[in-house]
Amino acid sequence: MKPQQPENSPENAGPSAHPSMKFSPVLQALTANPGVEMMSYAAGRQNMITLAQGEGEMPTADFIVEAAVKAMQDGRTFYGPALGQDALREALSAYYARIYGLNIPAGRVFITPSGTTAMHLSLSALVDEGDEVVAITPIWKNLLGAIELTRAKTQQVPLDYDDETDEWRLDLDRLFAACTPRTKVILVVSPSNPTGWSATKAEMEAILDFARNRGIWVLSDEVYGRLVFSGRVRAESFLDVAKEDDLLLVVNSFSKSWAMTGWRLGWIVGPAAAESKIRDVALYNNLCPPTFTQYGAIAALEQGEDVLKRQLALWQSNRDMLVDRFKAMGNVHMSRPRATFYSFFKVDGHPDCMSLTKKLVDEAGLLLSPGCAFGKTSTGYVRMCFAVSEAKLTEALNRMEPVIGKKT
Ligand SMILES: Cc1ncc(COP(=O)(O)O)c(C=O)c1O
Repeated sequence: MKPQQPENSPENAGPSAHPSMKFSPVLQALTANPGVEMMSYAAGRQNMITLAQGEGEMPTADFIVEAAVKAMQDGRTFYGPALGQDALREALSAYYARIYGLNIPAGRVFITPSGTTAMHLSLSALVDEGDEVVAITPIWKNLLGAIELTRAKTQQVPLDYDDETDEWRLDLDRLFAACTPRTKVILVVSPSNPTGWSATKAEMEAILDFARNRGIWVLSDEVYGRLVFSGRVRAESFLDVAKEDDLLLVVNSFSKSWAMTGWRLGWIVGPAAAESKIRDVALYNNLCPPTFTQYGAIAALEQGEDVLKRQLALWQSNRDMLVDRFKAMGNVHMSRPRATFYSFFKVDGHPDCMSLTKKLVDEAGLLLSPGCAFGKTSTGYVRMCFAVSEAKLTEALNRMEPVIGKKT
């Protein structure tokens, strides 16, 4: 069963607010969301293939569902601790030891109702009006929206696309130069949605050193940290290079790795000294994460490696097929993603992503995400999620090729 209403769908938007309704100015000031605009553009059309979503197609595995059902039947239907069940915090501590080889005590793990909420809680714990967040872009639009809601300013630092090697690169000097005395946070998404770029260990060390010297927090979104190809177990983490008491919050989620997007469960790893502050924010924001779902999450951590491997096998072969097909088209350029399930590509002769994505809706019945949703400098790009069946991806590419492929 696939989701009934996609993220940011126009169906979820409802009628526009009446002008007499006085909402907070911060809502009036929110920047437009081109992804939502495209969803509206495509809404109601028949026979569309949608690869604009950021999730796989596999339903959550039975053993995870059963663990949550059992928790409900056992009466775990009450409020719980603001930062999550001790059993899940302990399970994550064991998971970091097992998968990452890191000693992260349970007291440094804060359970949240989703990775998205983890980001909101982290930002509200760290920034205020007038503060600046330096964010490496292209970046998932919702994170830019989350910063806007805090009234902090975002300084976007774009990755460079190297046309020779088809690789995304971070210019550390540019990143550091973007930091001012008002900068409170450097936001890094690695592996990155949408580019698949991942920071190297050396880059993480350099960022952390710089931030440490300046008293700036590093907020690291590692939601795609296990979605890595070529047999690797995980991507590099800021936790690999951090000291226990560094100003570092790492955001993570159960959504992608274990096919649990609808469960809404994530976590933060932070310094022990942040626990009471994050608890305050969580308490007033959401009181506690849902209780019984956390038992499903424990099952995912303890028995979920095969689920992840099965998904990765499909996504890696899809990625390879996609790379070959784009290469054959001759005019499509993308970095071969070594992580995540997104392809972020540009097409010769189509510099405007909005008109290109509209053309694909109109002429190919294919909905993708326009690159301009991911930052100021990615207007020429389009994002496509390849976490679908091989048949669906093939059909999408068959539809796309006559519309954008090189005419010989
Ligand atoms: C970079 C990034 N962080 C966080 C999330 C959201 O995770 P969750 O489903 O736990 O809210 C997404 C979802 O697409 C994402 O791309």
